[in-house]
Amino acid sequence: WIAFTISSDQTMASEPVNVSEFEALAKKALPKMYFDFYAGGAEDEYTLKDNEEAYQRITIRPRVLVDVSRIDTSTSILGYPISSPIMVAPSALHQLANPEGELATARASAASNTIMILSFSSSYNVEEVAASCDAVRFFQLYRAERSGYKAIVLTVDCPRLGRREADIRNRMIVPKLKNVEGFVSNDVDAGGGSNLEAYANSTFDPTLSWKDVAWLKSITSLPILLKGILTHEDALKAVEVGAAGVIVSNHGARQLDYSPATITVVEEVVRAVKGKIPVIVDGGVRRGTDVFKALALGAQAVLVGRPIIYGLAAKGEQGVKQVIQMLKDEFELTMALAGCTSLKDITRSHVRTDRDRF
Ligand code: FNR
Repeated sequence: WIAFTISSDQTMASEPVNVSEFEALAKKALPKMYFDFYAGGAEDEYTLKDNEEAYQRITIRPRVLVDVSRIDTSTSILGYPISSPIMVAPSALHQLANPEGELATARASAASNTIMILSFSSSYNVEEVAASCDAVRFFQLYRAERSGYKAIVLTVDCPRLGRREADIRNRMIVPKLKNVEGFVSNDVDAGGGSNLEAYANSTFDPTLSWKDVAWLKSITSLPILLKGILTHEDALKAVEVGAAGVIVSNHGARQLDYSPATITVVEEVVRAVKGKIPVIVDGGVRRGTDVFKALALGAQAVLVGRPIIYGLAAKGEQGVKQVIQMLKDEFELTMALAGCTSLKDITRSHVRTDRDRF
């Protein structure tokens, strides 16, 4: 792992001051194939860019002369208190970024008092991650219940693997990792290309449908969140089927290119669920101002994907902590400068989008 370690001199010289600078550090620290795997999106990567740029098109309408000497960023999700509305998205294979992998991410999440969603494609299994810390964890499968996970997150945007051209070009091969859960490793014939597709074919289920959500609900007492909802039609179905929450997500633009930037459909989903269940959003959150905008449009919290991995690749557990802390600090400052002292003060009138007319 020496190749992945940044010397203390380099760290001093390039101490990141924002989340995006962690990306540059991660790029230096990781083999190109792995960095591209984490960073890449589907096909033209139109949605990948738009996830971030759509946030940049929204402006904030600050209110002044409010006593902001005390700011409270805390909230709760499904009754679990967290220090800010910033949570850790499920993402695959943290061991490619750091040997401690998801164990480090879980410890950093616990230290930051936030919730981590463990990926089904974790490099450590559910029990190992559970044993590493006492964070509130959500997972993607029912085996989670026994290990003290508090919710199941069903990813609904992966009937098949999106076409990620960087991985195809790089012939991305997932190496044999010690603990990978159900992972098809380099013993699989990659057909001269990436072995990700073989993995996806062996784990993704293209038959998954709404009746499976009802079935899953019947066999677990854990709340079920549906991740990958982008329309009011599906948001309504999610409520009908008894989902405990929805995550507005396009899988970090890794599945369907030209799906909408997630922040542009949050309001549509929020209106459809009418406050019956929480709406969480992910994709392109890189600044505390983004978190503020998401909440102003009605989301209850955000998930952060790639920046967490970049923190892990650059500086291990400490890097993940720093990324979460940076976003939280920026969010807290945004609240102060916009005249909001607690999350309930953040309203629709605090942002202006393309669609608003004044
Ligand atoms: C993901 N994502 C993801 N989602 C999921 O439900 N299960 C998974 O195993 C993975 N794996 C995964 C791997 C990598 C490398 C990335 C970048 C993403 C999607 C993830 O949960 C989240 O939706 C996006 O990452 C959010 O977008 P940002 O924050 O990365 O822009």
